[in-house]
Formats: sequence, C-alpha cells, structure tokens
Amino acid sequence: MHTPAPSDLNYQTGFGNTFSSEALPGALPVGQNSPQRLPYGLYAEQLSGSAFTVPRSEVRRTWLYRIRPSASHPEFRRLDAQINGIEQGPVTPNRLRWSPFEVPAEHTDFLDGLICLAATAPAEQASGVSVCVYRANASMESVFFDSDGELLIVPESGRLGIDTELGRLEIGPLQIAVVPRGMRFRVELLDATARGYLCENHGCPLRLPELGPIGSNGLANSRDFLAPLARYEDRGGPVRLVQKFLGELWACELDHSPLDVVAWHGNHVPYSYDLRRFNTLGTVSFDHPDPSIFTVLTSPGGMPGQANIDFVIFPPRWMVAEHSFRPPWFHRNLMNEFMGLIQGVYDAKAGGFLPGGASLHNRMSAHGPDAATTRQAIAADLEPQKIENTMAFMFETGQVLRPSRLALDCRERQTDYDDCWSGLARTFEPNRR
Ligand SMILES: [Fe+2]
Repeated sequence: MHTPAPSDLNYQTGFGNTFSSEALPGALPVGQNSPQRLPYGLYAEQLSGSAFTVPRSEVRRTWLYRIRPSASHPEFRRLDAQINGIEQGPVTPNRLRWSPFEVPAEHTDFLDGLICLAATAPAEQASGVSVCVYRANASMESVFFDSDGELLIVPESGRLGIDTELGRLEIGPLQIAVVPRGMRFRVELLDATARGYLCENHGCPLRLPELGPIGSNGLANSRDFLAPLARYEDRGGPVRLVQKFLGELWACELDHSPLDVVAWHGNHVPYSYDLRRFNTLGTVSFDHPDPSIFTVLTSPGGMPGQANIDFVIFPPRWMVAEHSFRPPWFHRNLMNEFMGLIQGVYDAKAGGFLPGGASLHNRMSAHGPDAATTRQAIAADLEPQKIENTMAFMFETGQVLRPSRLALDCRERQTDYDDCWSGLARTFEPNRR
C-alpha cells in the first residue's frame, strides 16, 4: 500500500538525522552554535534530551535560535486539575480490557481529556512507560511540555495539528507522531473530535529496531519519517505554559508565545510516520512468527534485546502459512502487553476489542485467541487470505504495567473479559491421533 506525500506542508525526511531549518534567511549560524551576536537579534539555547557524555550514537540535542530564551518565565505553580488516572490502583495479575472511551460533551482539549490507564514505574525513574488514552473536542490554547518523557501519539479518530517549537506536524488515524522530552507543543484539532492513545516513554528515546538477517530494508524505513521545518509565532501573551513534572501538572503564564524558534539544528526533534508505509514481513511457509517482526520503533531496556518499550503494529497483510494455526497462538510471556485498536478487527478476537478500546496482558498472564477465533482457525480451509482494513498496535514493555485506580473502577472496563476464553471446550481424544 502506498500513501501520497503530504501536500500542504514541506518536511525533512529521515530518522535520527541531524536536521536543520530556518524560517528567515540566514537565521541559522554557520560553523558555530553560539556566536557572540546572532542574526535578527535572536537568542541561542540548547535543548538536551540526553546527558552530555553518552556515546555519540545516543546524543539527542537541538540548538534553538529564538525570539526569547525559554528562561524568560515566572514561577510554575502546581495545578489543582491533574491528569485523570494519576492515582495508581492495586496491582493485579488479571487480564484487563476496556471498551472505547467516549469523547466528553463538555469543552475538552488534548490535555484535559487524557486518562492514564497504566504505568510501569514512577516518572522519576529513567526507564518505563505510562500509557494513556486521549479524547478531545477542542484545540489547546495552552502550550505543554513533558519533563517526564517523550510522547508517542497514536490517533484512533480525528486529525491533529501539532505545533511544536521546531515546526508543525499533521497526523491522523494510521499515522503517529513522537514529541521529544521537554519539547513545547500545542495540539490543534483538525476535526470536530479526536481520540487516540499516548505512550509516555521515560527511558531511552525511541529508535528504529535492528534488522539483523532481514537486511538493509524493511519494516519502517528511515526515509518515511518526517521532521518539521522551522516556523515561529511572534506574538504577545498571555500564554499559559503547562508542564508535566514527576507525574504532576504545573503551569505559569508567559507574556509571549514559547513557540518562537526562528531557526534550529539538531536531532532532538519531533517526527511523524504513516503506518501504511510499514513494509510488513511474515512467514511464507508455516507457523505464526513472533510479533517482534512487526516492531516499528523500540526503546532499548537494560537487558540486551529486552525493550523498555516496543511499538508494534498489526497491519493489513497476506496470511499464507500452510498447515498452521494462523492467529496468534496461546501464550504466556515475560513481556507486558498493552494493546489498542485503530481500525477494523484484530485477528485474535471475534468481538469485544473495539477501535478506541484497549487491553492489558501483564507478565505471565495466559492469553491468546478467543474461543470463537480458535474454533474458526482450526476448522478453516487454508487458502491465501488477505487481512484488510485493520490496524491494531501494542506497547510491549519489559516492566509490569500497573493499572490506575480509574482504569480499574471505570465503567469502560469489561469485567467479563475472562469469559472470552471460557468456551474453549475439551477436544482431547486419547484414541484419535
Ligand atoms: Fe499477547
């Protein structure tokens, strides 16, 4: 499947590149980062997403040339209104599933409508993730930044315009965006409502997975990632600047827009990617490969090969495996799996897992196809089959995801989820091979 290039915006392409961009000619210094006097009377500022002394391949930083330095702000004050679901609930080994979360009727922007469903660890730890859903019917007027991690935004419905310090990204369902830690941004709704998922990554920044024997092409290709071009707002305030710091929201009021970067260069950048560009690989002989073959982006964990977070998708694809049980097999895993559905039907569930809904299968919890899917897969005539109009995804993490109290108590939680496996009848006959 091919997707058209974005028509109304120009982007820079590639993953992990050191990009540069200027909205006014000559605004970007040449040959040094911080000259004594900058063109247009701009200020220079470095935004670091990594420690200065990490290996060169791990350095994430961007130099910003802006109208006012970020330091020009008054005291931040803790907000009374915090993120929904900030309170952690009791830990449970049970399998959990949620129906779609409705968009509220009252005025709700991207930040107001966040619901934290689960988190691996407190935000001060340098690893782990928090997982939220978002629902919105209004554009943000505040500008936000997250000190606790980078943000992976996965829309399920509604298009978003994401204005960042480095420029604008536009995404919709079947596309994603990543906003790096500390980057200031504002989310505009391009449709009446928007809903989707958010993964806050406290650990190593996301990157493309190694390809190993696959070779130099395949899965998500670097050239399909888009970074913005510089654009700036030169206007007065008041502008409310909100930050998330150790899980809590704090705010101050600025007398100017903080999206005032005229030129920049670096690799600590926001980017977008169209999931339809994913080059899906799979078996052409037998059996169902491990889902790691569908990894779009990964954040490495402390143990080699055990990710802090893998972002995995289940896109449209041909199923051709012979004499095989084609759906995902029954399994119990070390890794912890939060799943969402962007479009269509997921091939392991006949019902109950809906676009905008979610499921959580933590460490060693037994799960797999539901009873209806299992019966159908065993009885099926195995012709080549195209799975179409579907896009499920998984945030798979090496640490247990602890549900929030709200996630456990909300009416969207399906308390009968275990029943989807209850119809798996005993079919064992010792005298029939
Ligand atoms: Fe699983």
